[in-house]
Amino acid sequence: MGPLLLLFSCWTLVGAQTPSFKLRSVTLTIEPATDLLRDANATLWCRAGVSSSGTLTHVPVYTFYKDGTKVFTKKSAGAELAYPLLRVRYSNTGKYKCRVEIDGQGENSDTSKLTVTGVSVPLLQLSRSSLSEGEELTASCSAPDETGAFFFYFFVDGREVQDQPARINRADAQLRFNGGGVRQVHCEYTVMLAPGSTKSNKSNTVTVSVRELSFRPVLEIRPAAEVFEGDQLSVSCRPEGNSNVPGGLFLTLTHGTQLLGSGVNHVNSSITAKDSGEIECSFEVGNVSKKATKTLSVTELFSVPRLSVSLAEVFEGDRMVLTCSSAALVAGRLSSEDIAYTLDPKGPPATELGAGRFSLRAPPYHLSYTCTATARGITKHSLALLVRPKVSVVRPSISVVGGRVVLGRPFQIRCLSQWGSLPINYTLFWRYDPLNVTTVSTPHQEALFTATIHESDDIKLYMCEAANKPGKEGELSPRLNASVIVPLSNATLTALPAPWDVAEGNALILICGVTGTPPVTFKWYREDGGARLLFAGTANERSMAHRIHAVSRDHSGAYYCEAVNHARNPVRSQTVLIEVRLALWKKGVIAASCLLVLCAAALLCVLRFKSRRGKKEVTTELSVKPSGSKSDDSLTVSLVPDTEAYTAATVTEDRTSSSMWSVRPATAASDEDASVGSREPDVEYTEVVHPQPTDPTKVVLKEGTDTVYAELQDAPPGVVAAAAAAAADHEYGSLQYADLKNTNLGPDEDYHHGLPVPVD
Ligand SMILES: *[C@@H]1O[C@H](CO)[C@@H](O)[C@H](O)[C@H]1NC(C)=O
Ligand SMILES: *[C@@H]1O[C@H](CO)[C@@H](O)[C@H](O)[C@H]1NC(C)=O
Ligand SMILES: *[C@@H]1O[C@H](CO)[C@@H](O)[C@H](O)[C@H]1NC(C)=O
Ligand SMILES: *[C@@H]1O[C@H](CO)[C@@H](O)[C@H](O)[C@H]1NC(C)=O
Ligand SMILES: *[C@@H]1O[C@H](CO)[C@@H](O)[C@H](O)[C@H]1NC(C)=O
Ligand SMILES: *[C@@H]1O[C@H](CO)[C@@H](O)[C@H](O)[C@H]1NC(C)=O
Ligand SMILES: *[C@@H]1O[C@H](CO)[C@@H](O)[C@H](O)[C@H]1NC(C)=O
Ligand SMILES: *[C@@H]1O[C@H](CO)[C@@H](O)[C@H](O)[C@H]1NC(C)=O
Repeated sequence: MGPLLLLFSCWTLVGAQTPSFKLRSVTLTIEPATDLLRDANATLWCRAGVSSSGTLTHVPVYTFYKDGTKVFTKKSAGAELAYPLLRVRYSNTGKYKCRVEIDGQGENSDTSKLTVTGVSVPLLQLSRSSLSEGEELTASCSAPDETGAFFFYFFVDGREVQDQPARINRADAQLRFNGGGVRQVHCEYTVMLAPGSTKSNKSNTVTVSVRELSFRPVLEIRPAAEVFEGDQLSVSCRPEGNSNVPGGLFLTLTHGTQLLGSGVNHVNSSITAKDSGEIECSFEVGNVSKKATKTLSVTELFSVPRLSVSLAEVFEGDRMVLTCSSAALVAGRLSSEDIAYTLDPKGPPATELGAGRFSLRAPPYHLSYTCTATARGITKHSLALLVRPKVSVVRPSISVVGGRVVLGRPFQIRCLSQWGSLPINYTLFWRYDPLNVTTVSTPHQEALFTATIHESDDIKLYMCEAANKPGKEGELSPRLNASVIVPLSNATLTALPAPWDVAEGNALILICGVTGTPPVTFKWYREDGGARLLFAGTANERSMAHRIHAVSRDHSGAYYCEAVNHARNPVRSQTVLIEVRLALWKKGVIAASCLLVLCAAALLCVLRFKSRRGKKEVTTELSVKPSGSKSDDSLTVSLVPDTEAYTAATVTEDRTSSSMWSVRPATAASDEDASVGSREPDVEYTEVVHPQPTDPTKVVLKEGTDTVYAELQDAPPGVVAAAAAAAADHEYGSLQYADLKNTNLGPDEDYHHGLPVPVD
């Protein structure tokens, strides 16, 4: 029993483990072809390729799909299945595939497309073949043997009158006919498919005979002859024929879109002829509408008025004439006098001048006017006339671009009127003579003119005019007002004291003067190998002084100055050679030393003489004293004259008071002074000089509140002569020596030896 049981178990194990088949492929074929004509028989074959170890025990299931939708399923024992399509229709067109499933294994075929062409001819049937106007019949259109979704179309006398969708191959339509006669009816259809549709041929044509109603409307217009505008017309409408409609017929009378009247069984209307157009009278009975029309032709009596303005350009406030004119067109029936005119809007008071002319002032804004002409009860409106009054110019402003004018150089004059309609003509005037005209066409654009003047006062002779009104004078600007810059010229450098009369330790004033318009920027240079700038300053004057506080012999050299003003044309002065003389006290020291030697020699001689002669006594006095506490060099030489000439030549400062004759030793001056003197640029003091620098003999030096006059030429003639003599022999040393010897002299004697020599 044991071995048998084992064998059975083994068999069942093997049977369960090994599959007995394999589904390899599924194919779909369409026979006889994929493109078929309507009514052909087609077969779709689905074939399964199966590999099996023995006979297939499982039955395959075949499923057919059209456009993705299942259409047919069958279990079939064979390896293939046919799906027949008998008498194919257009609706069979589509994409097909099939699927085979065997015991859990499934496979799809590729997709094949079947195309069927041609649809059946539609068939039309009518419920009746004769009827009255307004009655209905039923038309039935069918698509024999067709399947799918449909659209049916119904035609009467070739014109489509109705369309109807249908899910089945048949549709009905209710048809109604207006007017009597024989009508031809046919139908067509289309079969709808997802990606397309196909249209059928025309159906058979069915004839319908329609009986007209026995009554109709009659329209009368009187007078029937030529109709002119304003004529009174009587229009009447009534039904004609035998109407047995209960309650009578309801008539409607219209003229274009205007309802003239309505009523039962008759309509009478009286109208004034205005426009040509159709007059229509109509009524409805049941489903039938009947109408009668007549064309009304109206002859115009007068034309549509035209409105015009008298001026080509209207300025606000101008009196203008608006003219409304309309022509009488039908001679004999209407004359021009019969036409009355009015102006709209009434707006500003308008004076009627008669015959359609209106006089009024142009308002300061845009306004649209229309006018109307009235005659025989007819009113006609003109087109709108837009009047845009212009704005006059105002007094223009005139100015110089940049604000300054340089004599002899071109400059620009700008002229602008704040208001005024464009274009504006700007005219530049010089002494009332027009120089140039510019036309400005951009808002707020100023007119620019180029001019040149050669006299300062000429600037006031410019004016400009703005004009924008043809034939009228414009507005004149004020006179041009601008500051005129005279370019600099004739720069002079004046030294004070005179260049050859500058003594060490004294102040030196270099005055730079020009001709031209201030403010002026002055620059002082020293020619020191190159040009070395000493000082620069700006003055609102025509001259400026630069002061070197206490000159040393190093200050000897060539000096010049430069000046520039707003005209930006730098001018340069002549070069002035300055030679600084030795200081008086130094000469004094030399002289004193010599004197001492002499005195010592004399003393020696006297002593020897005394020793020889015996008891004779001699005393000698010396008037030169060293200044004690200070250094050896320090020696105060006091020689203070009190005449006016000396005072005049004195330049007084706040810190120290030094005259040309009272020379303080370097140590006597403050340390600050000494250090200033040793510094390179001796820029210590700069003054503004008012008077003409071309006359350097009269220079006002402003120092604080004191004004000191240096009137060199006004010195007494004796002083000048003595100075001239001293200058001639060029022996300053001996002169100074003489001064020393005269220390004890009174102030009235020989005071004039050191005076500066006037500049010639
Ligand atoms: C299509 O098949 C039907 C029925 O089998 C047959 O009557 C008909 O003649 C066939 N038509 C054609 C075109 O073979
Ligand atoms: C008017 O039309 C309706 C349907 O719309 C119909 O029932 C009626 O009979 C028609 N009347 C006449 C006078 O034909
Ligand atoms: C449809 O009409 C065309 C000509 O108008 C004709 O040639 C064709 O045969 C018709 N088709 C059918 C199915 O009657
Ligand atoms: C309507 O006018 C016609 C002539 O135009 C006239 O015979 C008829 O009497 C008028 N009817 C009425 C109701 O005024
Ligand atoms: C007027 O202006 C134009 C251009 O600005 C200039 O070419 C012309 O020379 C001027 N005429 C006079 C007379 O200044
Ligand atoms: C402005 O000037 C132009 C040309 O010079 C001239 O034709 C025009 O009439 C002038 N306009 C006015 C308002 O003066
Ligand atoms: C000219 O302009 C200056 C400064 O702009 C002004 O002080 C002076 O009053 C003006 N002169 C005239 C006549 O307008
Ligand atoms: C400049 O000086 C010259 C000669 O000294 C003189 O003729 C001329 O008029 C002076 N120029 C001015 C603007 O003062």
